[in-house]
Order: sequence, then C-alpha cells, then structure tokens
Amino acid sequence: MVKKNACVFISGEGSNLKNLLKRSRDYNFPISIKLVVSNNPEAKGLNFAKKYSIPCLIVNTSFRFFETGVLNYLKKYRINIICLAGYMKVISKKFLKSFNNQVINIHPSLLPKFKGLNTFKRILDKKEIKTGCTVHFVNEKLDGGRIIAQKSFYITINSNVSDLKKRTQVLEHIAYPEAIIKIFRANY
Ligand code: GAR
Repeated sequence: MVKKNACVFISGEGSNLKNLLKRSRDYNFPISIKLVVSNNPEAKGLNFAKKYSIPCLIVNTSFRFFETGVLNYLKKYRINIICLAGYMKVISKKFLKSFNNQVINIHPSLLPKFKGLNTFKRILDKKEIKTGCTVHFVNEKLDGGRIIAQKSFYITINSNVSDLKKRTQVLEHIAYPEAIIKIFRANY
C-alpha cells in the first residue's frame, strides 16, 4: 500500500508519538512518519523519534517567522498530514491554510466539552460521570474542528487527575490510530 507521509508535532512525553511510530510500522497502517517537530528541546518524545531514526525539527515559537521555516520542512519531506500529539502551542490560521487544513489533534476530553488546558482538573471539579478523548481536525477555533473519533469511560468515585490521565491515555492510544485509518480508508 502507498502510505501518506505524516509529521507529528509534540511538546512533552510523546506517548502518542511512540504509539503512532509503532503502528506506522504495520504494512497496513496508512501513514509513515517522516518528521517530528517539537517546540521543546527537552521533550522526552524526541527520544522515541531518535530510536526510530526519524528526523526531528526543534522550533523556537517566539521567533516570528518560525512557521515559514516549518512549512519549508513539510515541503521537503512531502508531508501530507500533520498529527498534533500533545503539542501545546496554537497553530495559526495562516499556517493551517497554507497546509490545506490537513492537521489533526488529540484532546483529552469528550469535545465539545472541556476545550483548552487543565482538562482533567476541570472535569473532576465539574463532577462529570463520563470522560474520554477526541481526535479532531484542527481549525482556527481552539479544539473546535470536526470530530473524527471519540472514546469514553465512566469516572470512578475518588478518581484524581493522575487516574484520569492514565485511563484517558489508554484510550488515546486506541483512538488516534483508528482516526487515522478512518481518514484515509473512508476518505473522511
Ligand atoms: C495527551 O493526553 C493529549 O490528549 C494532550 O496532551 C497529552 C500528550 O501526551 N493534549 C492536549 O491537552 C492538547 N490540548 P503524550 O505527549 O504522552 O502523547
């Protein structure tokens, strides 16, 4: 099968990157990861990229024209899709347009609920009974693009932020690959 070229943007741990790297080795998985971009030179996830010999680009987001530099690299590696995986910076409207809106993201809540940061604490404060994760297309609105896949679980009594994070990430590692398959197999 002819795979699409993907670039994964990270800022931290990189557990979703690790999972996607593993999955992308499957003959049947529709993407091949060609580039990893991080705004954080200390991101642990960069170690996974190194392990799989994937080129990494560290960007300084305070530099005004950094997105132009990133776009050049995306062209160089013929990237078809960007997967945000714990990338904690907002992508500009101009960048999205230049890249034809082929950007997807994973968020640790059942969108449209709990957009933005500090998700788990807000979910607990609101005494939600159910939560989960969402994979969605990225548009100019924060966590607002079209939903591709969601997975959910019931919150147990006495859950804390760390439990919620763990349980959410187990589902993220299933939902992200599923969403990618859905996009390319079903022309979603
Ligand atoms: C993931 O849980 C992802 O949903 C979240 O960051 C974590 C990154 O984990 N993303 C956001 O909160 C985006 N708003 P990872 O670095 O281990 O993949």
